Amino acid sequence: MRLDKFLSACGAGTRSEVKKLIKNRAVSVNGKPAERPEEKIDEERDEICVYGKKLTYEKFRYYLLHKPAGCITAVSDDNNKTVMDYIPKELQKDLSPVGRLDLDAEGLLLLTNDGALLHHCISPSHHMKKTYFAALDKALPNDAEERFLQGIPIGDPKPALPAVLERLPQKHDFGDFPNAALLTITEGRFHQVKRMFEAAGCHVIYLKRLSMGPISLGDLEKGCFRSLTADEIKKLKED
Ligand code: URA
Repeated sequence: MRLDKFLSACGAGTRSEVKKLIKNRAVSVNGKPAERPEEKIDEERDEICVYGKKLTYEKFRYYLLHKPAGCITAVSDDNNKTVMDYIPKELQKDLSPVGRLDLDAEGLLLLTNDGALLHHCISPSHHMKKTYFAALDKALPNDAEERFLQGIPIGDPKPALPAVLERLPQKHDFGDFPNAALLTITEGRFHQVKRMFEAAGCHVIYLKRLSMGPISLGDLEKGCFRSLTADEIKKLKED
């Protein structure tokens, strides 16, 4: 692999930034300062350091993005901002979003170049749990918990699978929304959460995904991303 490509893939900077690092003698290959960006290295065996710190090449990358509203869950789009606009160019290669969030929805979105894990997370047979915060235009009917638990019809040949609804009190930690709830589902049908609440007579005015399987959004700022930890990746694979 070319040295500059390796450095970019490890997150050391864009291609032009890593070229500068090499020019400034900040990069070493097996203890010797690197001379040229196009130099070939063996990513498995060679020891590559930037300012003395060893880099390790990970074939698979796993990111957690706090998706803001107003961008679409796609790799590219001619008209809209996409979730990729929040990931630095040098880390974007081969990444795919794991499932979808609507244009107006926010919250946890995983991105990876690991096709097997992506499939594991979105495969309908895995029933991975996803929890959403939803703010509604009006109060939920009294029997909503029961109807969601039984599997509410949403206009598809099959009703939604049983889902757990937790009505939130008027004052809660998610902002100033008087009618709000947490909903945990195990499917990923088109507009599923919105359609489930519509079926209960309520319109979703704000939607945020809080968790997917063992991964939680936590306090990651909107528009920011981070790598998953080794422990999170392990748990996700085992979920
Ligand atoms: N359900 C929805 O209705 N929208 C989303 O973005 C995700 C789940």
